[in-house]
Amino acid sequence: MKNTSVLMMIVVALGLMATSASADIKKGQKGYLKTCKKCHGNGTKGAAMKTQGEWEDLYANDATNIKAKHAGTKGEKFFKSKKFKKLAPHLKDFLFQYGSDSGNVPSCG
Ligand code: HEC
Repeated sequence: MKNTSVLMMIVVALGLMATSASADIKKGQKGYLKTCKKCHGNGTKGAAMKTQGEWEDLYANDATNIKAKHAGTKGEKFFKSKKFKKLAPHLKDFLFQYGSDSGNVPSCG
């Protein structure tokens, strides 16, 4: 009986972790479609711009590098906004998940 309840707890905990992780990716995908697609094409194309390692790098240190990439472009304003700050972790999750070397492809771009 005791073993069963421990097992149940593990199953529930894993389930919760899995849903919160995929929720972030979904949020990131939505954010991407809303904010990046107009300049970089659909999510499949956008995420495949970079490898997973490169996305890590672009979003490291408060997303310094991706902000720098957009300095002086039409995208600059968005990257300086609070909206980007809020969305950045989710965007990163999405882009990382589907980076060009990930082997993953989003179900709908
Ligand atoms: C208003 C247009 C615009 C928006 C919005 C925009 N970008 Fe960009 N982005 C550009 C331009 C212009 C460049 C620089 C030229 C290039 O490399 O294509 C660029 C460059 C990049 C690069 C670097 C490409 C390289 O060659 O190193 C990445 C990665 C990138 N953007 C990702 C994103 C992501 C992710 C979003 C959404 C959060 C986004 N961009 C939103 C216009 C935009």
